Amino acid sequence: CAGLFNSRLLDGVHLTITAGPTREAIDPVRYISNHSSGKMGYALASAAADAGARVSLISGPTNLPCPDRVQRIDVVSATDMHNAALAVMGQCQVFIACAAVADYRPVNCADQKIKKDNESMRIDLVRNPDIVAAVANHAQRPFTVGFAAETQDLLHYARDKLQRKNLDMIVANDVANTSIGFNANDNAVTVVTPGGEQSIAQMGKNQLAVQLIALIAQEFHCSQS
Ligand code: CTP
Ligand code: CA
Repeated sequence: CAGLFNSRLLDGVHLTITAGPTREAIDPVRYISNHSSGKMGYALASAAADAGARVSLISGPTNLPCPDRVQRIDVVSATDMHNAALAVMGQCQVFIACAAVADYRPVNCADQKIKKDNESMRIDLVRNPDIVAAVANHAQRPFTVGFAAETQDLLHYARDKLQRKNLDMIVANDVANTSIGFNANDNAVTVVTPGGEQSIAQMGKNQLAVQLIALIAQEFHCSQS
């Protein structure tokens, strides 16, 4: 019954999701990255396609197969992901930022493999662009959803990011708890909108994705009317 209902929720809507980690090159053989598996973003892409959406999945490097009926755009760095996101502005009505974007990248990527010539070394880093904030502040702004992965003061930081990045919704999840963290199969979240908050108890990422897509669809349609 829920499946039948969900199959109509996003008919005709173009939805873009960012997923997975990014990699920031240090030299030709090394990079800075994080533990994101991409599972939550891929589960959302699959659930959105099931709900009738046309889905673009802008994905950093993961080991996951592309879900059925989803168009995947492969990227490596945060800069690539930023460019790919800006390229779909004006075409998509809903944007979900699920990627764990590296906050900084090396100022320079060395042309050759760096040799261990010294006892210590430094790598200068520069801040990456904030992709979801750029989307939410774009002239052709879609309904924009972010994620907040925190190890402390979850709701405080989530509310702050919702406001600061000009988002319509943020999905807060506690990554200090390893059973629902970056690489886990389960997740438990609190969904924060300017109008209120709603908790969703721990469950598999696929099942959670179906619930989140239903909530996002509902809020998106309300924002259009
Ligand atoms: N995000 C993004 N581009 C970035 C950094 C983050 O689009 N360069 C998005 C993430 O995909 C997520 C949201 O912003 O939807 C929050 O990411 P998070 O890392 O929790 O927030 P930051 O703003 O990077 O703040 P901090 O890491 O300091 O907590
Ligand atoms: Ca960050």
